[in-house]
Amino acid sequence: MHVIEITGTGRPSTILVGEKMENLARYLPAGRTIVITDATVRQLYQDRFPTAPVLSIGCGEAVKTLETATDLYETLLSLEADRSTFILGIGGGIVCDVTGFVASTFMRGLRFGFVATTLLAQVDASVGGKNGVNLEGYKNLIGTFNQPEFVLCDMQLLQTLPEAEVINGMAEIVKHALIADAGLFAFLEEQGQSALSLDPAIIERLVRDSVVIKSGVVSRDERETGERRKLNFGHTFGHALEKVSGLSHGEAVSVGMVLAASLSVRRGRLAAAAHDRVIRLLRSLRLPCTAPAAVGRVVDAVLKDKKREADRIHFVMLEDIGRAVVEDISIAELKAAAAAFECILQPTGRHAVP
Ligand SMILES: NC(=O)c1ccc[n+]([C@@H]2O[C@H](COP(=O)([O-])OP(=O)(O)OC[C@H]3O[C@@H](n4cnc5c(N)ncnc54)[C@H](O)[C@@H]3O)[C@@H](O)[C@H]2O)c1
Repeated sequence: MHVIEITGTGRPSTILVGEKMENLARYLPAGRTIVITDATVRQLYQDRFPTAPVLSIGCGEAVKTLETATDLYETLLSLEADRSTFILGIGGGIVCDVTGFVASTFMRGLRFGFVATTLLAQVDASVGGKNGVNLEGYKNLIGTFNQPEFVLCDMQLLQTLPEAEVINGMAEIVKHALIADAGLFAFLEEQGQSALSLDPAIIERLVRDSVVIKSGVVSRDERETGERRKLNFGHTFGHALEKVSGLSHGEAVSVGMVLAASLSVRRGRLAAAAHDRVIRLLRSLRLPCTAPAAVGRVVDAVLKDKKREADRIHFVMLEDIGRAVVEDISIAELKAAAAAFECILQPTGRHAVP
């Protein structure tokens, strides 16, 4: 097991990579726990849950709303949860985001922790203290920064994941490699197929390396005033694509990374050969490099995104594999670049090779 700590401004958050769910009781505080999960995870793993009331939310991005949060507040109230109650989220990124948000806001904040059950949640969503829900389809518009006390990542839980969810998680691992770790990128190039088949040793290394990268960034810049913005690599376009094209989070981030890498080449930041390596790796991991979406709609969605400040956007570019830089780009440049990317974004679904 690898134990990684995030030391932000609040209490530390401990990420337990490779810990078994059977050992969960070691990390729960004395007193009352209430579990929040989703229907699928409940069905698969309820026999391993601690003895506690279990609240289920539905599945899918559509449940990540204030309405779901309100339902949970009302149930917590009826269960007489109080400031001493510990909230445990067991599930993927959606359960973690909703649980963290509800726990952070109910009675001005209850203690909480996660068992992350998807690859994407283990390498990204459960780590770093960003919690939230969507509003009118815009991602994570309402939320808090608040660290879970612990995150338990049991690799064995990933064995029941559908292949599409494994591929989703790979997108965020590639992102971590691209912004911070050329060695991890090369490892993915060599071991990507073993990773897709969930080889335990390979997958544990990928989760550990990703958590180390994300934890380091979050510890240095918990509230995203500088370096943490690098973790948004691929997400400016990715969130917009998730909204307008119906791609999953990981797929949308994959295409978002292709767009960001292309913009980096266009700006003279990134060598074309490095861009091509990015495309090759994403394809080998069966991640999409093109999306069925109209450029205009994607740009409109980007402009409504929360990362916009005045007429400029903080945009994460690549300088090389393993090195990212945040630059302000103007809305005009973004529009011009997006128009040049029509080989990547095609409303008809017919794409040229980028
Ligand atoms: N807070 C953050 O920093 C952050 C970072 C990245 C992504 N996110 C968010 O995470 C969300 C996506 O997370 P996700 O991809 O984990 O999606 P998800 O939570 O919807 O899980 C995907 C599917 O897998 C099922 N599932 C979960 N664990 C399983 C298991 N062990 N076996 C079989 N099925 C299982 C779920 O029921 C669901 O149907 C998005 O809303 C995204 O915005 C948040």
